[in-house]
Amino acid sequence: MVPRSGLAAISAALLAMNRQLEVRDVLQTIVASARDLLGAEYAALGVPDDQGGFAQFVVAGVDEDKWEEIGPLPRQHGILAAMLHEATPQRLADVRKDPRFGGWPAAHPVLADFLGMPIADGEQVLGALFLANKPCGPEARTGRRAWQERPCAFTEDDEDLLRLLAQHAAIALTNARLYERSRELTIAEERTRIGHELHDAVAQKLFSLRLTAQAATALIDRDPARAKAELAEVARLSAEAADELRAAVVELRPAALDEDGLVATLRTQAQVLDRAHSAHVDFVCEGVRALPSAQEEALLRVAQEALHNALRHAGAEHVRVTLARRGPSVVLTVTDDGTGFDPGAVRSAGRHLGLVSMRDRAAGVGGSLTVHSEPGKGTVVAMEVPGG
Ligand SMILES: Nc1ncnc2c1ncn2[C@@H]1O[C@H](COP(=O)(O)OP(=O)(O)OP(=O)(O)O)[C@@H](O)[C@H]1O
Ligand SMILES: [Mg+2]
Repeated sequence: MVPRSGLAAISAALLAMNRQLEVRDVLQTIVASARDLLGAEYAALGVPDDQGGFAQFVVAGVDEDKWEEIGPLPRQHGILAAMLHEATPQRLADVRKDPRFGGWPAAHPVLADFLGMPIADGEQVLGALFLANKPCGPEARTGRRAWQERPCAFTEDDEDLLRLLAQHAAIALTNARLYERSRELTIAEERTRIGHELHDAVAQKLFSLRLTAQAATALIDRDPARAKAELAEVARLSAEAADELRAAVVELRPAALDEDGLVATLRTQAQVLDRAHSAHVDFVCEGVRALPSAQEEALLRVAQEALHNALRHAGAEHVRVTLARRGPSVVLTVTDDGTGFDPGAVRSAGRHLGLVSMRDRAAGVGGSLTVHSEPGKGTVVAMEVPGG
């Protein structure tokens, strides 16, 4: 039986382990707790990598200068390898006398009695925990030299205690890894979102900006007045691009949606594009009123990208945007009579982000996106969202 104070100490150690969220902090707490609870001079914990080394190796009882002096991390060999590969505890009166002992670097502290315990989650060995040099008897407390005079092996109780600690360490370590993983995923999702947002809003503005600047350049000598008007447009578009950029970063919806709603915003955009391009662009709305804001935003972004693609790639004469109720859903379509293309042949990787981004936008609000197109037959992009 563990004495009461021992139980309190174990409980404190387990709580400390589980309070940490970062893997490295968890490892550090495990090592420090194991060293304290078993009264060892040194404790270490190694997490193996798949190249015969250690991805992480933390120690307690060795100060930083000493750690530097010892040199590179150990490899998985000898007794360390046995713990990791066979997942068996190792309790040795003198590690140096073990046939598997392979020596250590010059600056390595001298270890004698040794207790090693694998940390396993089911079949999977996550790491190994090992302790060395256990002082024994009352004289042990007077200083670290005591064990050197009278080395004292770890007991079976020590082994049981370390096993218990290792079981909890496995849980704490697994949780910490899951936490780190989920944070990485969140960061990756956030990066994707910003990437799409920038593509949808800013890349389009920059494209128009470039065209307008080119127009101004072409006009500057023969028609300075019109060139001046084009340059005013350049200024306006760049201000808009800057706003969109800011919005993408702080995730604001397009201001026009808040002020005018989706239907009016789409109508205005169609009018603006109709004036700006040689293709005829119009907008038809059938019985759709306001939608939840996330859906309005997704529909607007998809309409913008589909319009942009139609005007840029299709060489169309007519482009029509429709918004219509269909049963319990709302359907947006952008139809052009241009060149058409083979949607199956467009690589999702590389520089083409538009189609991928539209799909993601639709899926993000519980909707779906279809692209009907064929070379020579024009293109219909349809997005369906529930509700509204
Ligand atoms: N309406 C369309 N008419 C003809 N071709 C189209 C149309 N829409 C898309 N395409 C073709 O599909 C390709 C992929 O479109 P997508 O929007 O994914 O990328 P992109 O427009 O080339 O680049 P971006 O990432 O800037 O959107 C286009 O390059 C074009 O060849
Ligand atoms: Mg595109």
